[in-house]
Amino acid sequence: MAIWVVYESLWGNTAAIARAIAEGLGEEAIAVSTADTDPAEAASIRALIAGAPVHGMSLPTSESLAAAAAKKVDEAHLAPRTDAPLMRDWLAGLPELAIPATAFDTRVRGPLGRGSSTAIIRAQAAKGCSLLAQPKSFRVDFRNAGPTEADLLKDGELAKARAWGAQLATVLNAAAA
Ligand SMILES: Cc1cc2nc3c(=O)[nH]c(=O)nc-3n(C[C@H](O)[C@H](O)[C@H](O)COP(=O)(O)O)c2cc1C
Repeated sequence: MAIWVVYESLWGNTAAIARAIAEGLGEEAIAVSTADTDPAEAASIRALIAGAPVHGMSLPTSESLAAAAAKKVDEAHLAPRTDAPLMRDWLAGLPELAIPATAFDTRVRGPLGRGSSTAIIRAQAAKGCSLLAQPKSFRVDFRNAGPTEADLLKDGELAKARAWGAQLATVLNAAAA
């Protein structure tokens, strides 16, 4: 049975974290955009890990996507992806799900504000999911801005994501044993 690491990501940073978490989780896991997976099909998966950037201290909205799209784009700054379904809408489309789940987000600031991950685990719980592990935040730094997709991530964040994925696999495998 598959483990989904589903992400919303405008510039690819949350997507890169999702791929690193999936690597840490192992072969069963796939990292996939909200654009490329149907929440209705989650009924057959083993676990769900969902992640999104923090916008205005919570999940992105159509207004925050419009604000991001209005930012000036030049050679050093990629245009944001704003055509994928919002994570909040994707989560609303989940069926009732009695599986383990958790969340992650990417943000500039540390623990200030509740962030996207808290909103995600609340939505997962409302669908019947159990909490697999406390949610996790990963940090970006705008001083890193450049043309490659995950260039805003602070040093060490991908390794941290891989390690977190491996921890999640340990918890899942212990529960299955
Ligand atoms: C409209 C908007 C609002 C944001 N609000 C916050 C915020 O409240 N707190 C924060 O730490 N980062 C904030 N950020 C920074 C995002 O978290 C950052 O762009 C994101 O982690 C990059 O991930 P992505 O490449 O996957 O989109 C905001 C970004 C945008 C575009």
